[in-house]
Formats: sequence, C-alpha cells, structure tokens
Amino acid sequence: ATERTLSIIKPDAVAKNAIGEIYTRFEKAGLKIVAAKMMHLSREKAEGFYAEHKERPFFGDLVGFMISGPVMVQTLEGEDAIAKNRDLMGATNPKEAEPGTIRADFAESIDANAVHGSDAPASAEREIAYFFTNDEICPR
Ligand code: CMP
Repeated sequence: ATERTLSIIKPDAVAKNAIGEIYTRFEKAGLKIVAAKMMHLSREKAEGFYAEHKERPFFGDLVGFMISGPVMVQTLEGEDAIAKNRDLMGATNPKEAEPGTIRADFAESIDANAVHGSDAPASAEREIAYFFTNDEICPR
C-alpha cells in the first residue's frame, strides 16, 4: 500500500554534506519527498519527538546530539514507504548495518547514526504531524 513515513537526516550527516546523496537513495528506491524542511531543533522540540525514550539511559545524549546542529526533516511517500525507508537506513547501530545502507555508509556510532525513520504506521502518522501541517505536504 502507499504509505508516508517521517525521515530525519541527523546533524552528523548534514555536517558531512550528505543530504543530496541520501535524497538520491530515497528517490532511486521510488520514495517521493512530499515535504521537507531544514531546522535547528530546540531542546523542547527534540525531547517531545523522542518522548517515548524519556526513561532510557541514552535519552540525554540523544537529545543533546539532535540539537547539536541543523537537521533535514522530510515526509517520504511511496509503496511500503515505512519498511522501504528502514531497509535503506540499515540497523540502528551502524556496526550492525548491512553494507550499502545509509547507516553503514554515513554513520559513526549508535548515537550519531545519520538518519531516523518511523518504525510503524502509528508512529509515522504521529511523527509527520509533529513536524508538518497538512498544507505543507505536497503529494504528486
Ligand atoms: P532513532 O531511530 O532516531 O531513535 C532513537 C535513537 O536513539 C536511535 O535512532 C539512536 O540514534 C539512539 N540510541 C542511542 N543508544 C541507543 C540504544 N541503545 N538503543 C536504541 N537507540 C539508541
């Protein structure tokens, strides 16, 4: 089915000037970028986005990293977009990511892991709405 998913290119990959290479991977896989914005997240915005991880030991480092520089936030649309984006990203820990995935090629560590992608339809809906109003999404 056609789905939408929320993708974030994290501060490490933005700093590496890898936005274009990562966008090319989305587009070559048939995912359309239907909304996008560059943002430097506030602490409050990052904490709210990752609220489900609030009690995890890595929460403070995660939030600190996500506000360390600008991020590129996009909504991707396409057939099975949620799973397709997760395949393109590879495992959360880049040491475990398959060769040729975004994290294998661009990520340094489980904290600085280049990209985020929604993990299920419910989180995709919540995460897209967290960053984009309906009129900011431009399906084609
Ligand atoms: P992301 O998909 O953005 O969702 C939560 C992030 O927390 C994850 O990517 C990692 O960058 C980061 N993180 C750090 N340590 C861990 C861990 N032990 N397990 C899961 N995520 C972690």
